[in-house]
Amino acid sequence: MSTTNLNVQKQAELYKGKAKTVYATDDAERLILFFRNDTSAFDGKKLAQLERKGMVNNRFNAFIMEKLQAAGIPTHFEGLLSDQECVVKKLQMLPVECVVRNLAAGSMCRRLGVAEGTVLNPPTFEFFLKNDALGDPMINESHIETFGWATKEQVEQMKDMTFRVNEILKGIFLAGNMLLVDSKLEFGLFHGQLYLGDEFSPDGCRLWDKDTREKLDKDRFRQDLGDVVEAYEQVARRIGVPL
Ligand code: ADP
Ligand code: TMP
Ligand code: ASP
Repeated sequence: MSTTNLNVQKQAELYKGKAKTVYATDDAERLILFFRNDTSAFDGKKLAQLERKGMVNNRFNAFIMEKLQAAGIPTHFEGLLSDQECVVKKLQMLPVECVVRNLAAGSMCRRLGVAEGTVLNPPTFEFFLKNDALGDPMINESHIETFGWATKEQVEQMKDMTFRVNEILKGIFLAGNMLLVDSKLEFGLFHGQLYLGDEFSPDGCRLWDKDTREKLDKDRFRQDLGDVVEAYEQVARRIGVPL
């Protein structure tokens, strides 16, 4: 187990993603994630700049990662560096996205003809390939094994951790009178061990008000519902994220 290192100096830009920029640091095992105000949907086809989003998601993610860490989930998060930056362990990311769903929405409704809001008991688990050019296609464990995207053991660990994260976060959001509809997690390796990476924010999950079913996540952007960052801030306030 390596110790937390927040005392890092920002170095070269390594990667500019759709919402975050990744920087190297003077510590070869640490990165800085910069949360930009850029917002994208539909694999980068729809883009916008949303004032305050970078700061809100950076703080939101820090709050959630610390809760998960405290509940025994190994995460890459080391600490907040500034309004829009945090320090993380440098992971070798596995090129798959893990999606867990408690209620049907989004692509599940389109693919399976299920009505939005159908309760999924038990929650479902799906793998997607992280590849925007291909539109993040759904994949299965056989593809992951054959193409070497992860080992069988890592597949089992990712599923297990995703369901555990789902249970922990369902409770946190329920306490704020919200339903965690679904979420997407990414994992990576650090010294051979699996860690939760990337971010957890309303950009990568769906959250509904429990009573009104009002959408409080990135569907507001996808569906042009307006007040996107205002909704994220409302979610943050309801669960006690300091903004
Ligand atoms: P995208 O690549 O999907 O456009 P982002 O804009 O969020 O997404 O960019 C952040 C990138 O950094 C993602 O590709 C993500 O997989 C990667 N990443 C997240 N956490 C880590 C980490 N701890 N180590 C290495 N890479 C990471
Ligand atoms: P989906 O209904 O579009 O498959 O998305 C399921 C959940 O995963 C939803 O909360 C959005 C999130 N997600 C991402 O954050 N990024 C992605 O690339 C994909 C495919 C889904
Ligand atoms: N996260 C993906 C994108 O930015 C997919 C989505 O959110 O719709 O395009």
